[in-house]
Amino acid sequence: MFERNLTRREMELIEDIREFIKEKHSQSERHDYSHVLQVVRYAIQIAKAIPDEVNPFVLICGALFHDVGWIGTDTGVLHGLRGATIVDEYFDSTWVSADVKKRIKRIVIRHTATSMMAPQTVEEKIVWDADGLDGMGLIGILRGLVAEQGSIEEILTDEFRESRKTYDRLYFEESRRIGKELHEETIEVIRSFKRALDHRLKAIEQLALPVERPVNWARVWVDISQAK
Ligand SMILES: [Fe+2]
Ligand SMILES: [Fe+2]
Repeated sequence: MFERNLTRREMELIEDIREFIKEKHSQSERHDYSHVLQVVRYAIQIAKAIPDEVNPFVLICGALFHDVGWIGTDTGVLHGLRGATIVDEYFDSTWVSADVKKRIKRIVIRHTATSMMAPQTVEEKIVWDADGLDGMGLIGILRGLVAEQGSIEEILTDEFRESRKTYDRLYFEESRRIGKELHEETIEVIRSFKRALDHRLKAIEQLALPVERPVNWARVWVDISQAK
């Protein structure tokens, strides 16, 4: 549950951040603005469902900024740490206290395993879960396909494994409830893809190739001998 409601001043700043993030993510394919918004949505849903007290401002800012470190890079390496420096600079010109800024930065750093620092506070764990959930299900597969390389079978198998791994690493019961549905959706989508691929392969094997009629050698022999 949220420990309190957002103040008017916080709401105004969140609106500014949303505009900033929207513009920053407009060029990104896999980490587009819709991903960020979905992470905010999942984060709010999880926060409302759990008994822990959650700071709404810290949580929402953390979710909005979580992938900003991807912008301007292709690989996203260390995007958590990169994002934290952007958070630092952004909040320098605002009224936000050093303590709150630090809590938001920690969310950004710890939302990804690439930072090698596990989430610890309740807000950090919520954004971790919310981010993982958007990598599952139909949309998660589509986001994965944008970035992956390899054969279709390999990508699908990877997507299945990733979805399972993400599910296993969720912190909250509410996240697992959402994640279970998404994982089932992942399985169903992959099954349909596999069915379509198998069907295609069989169709190729049974291909009625336009081969010329077999040569009738007896007839050829007759023709040759008559020509003599
Ligand atoms: Fe990320
Ligand atoms: Fe993300």
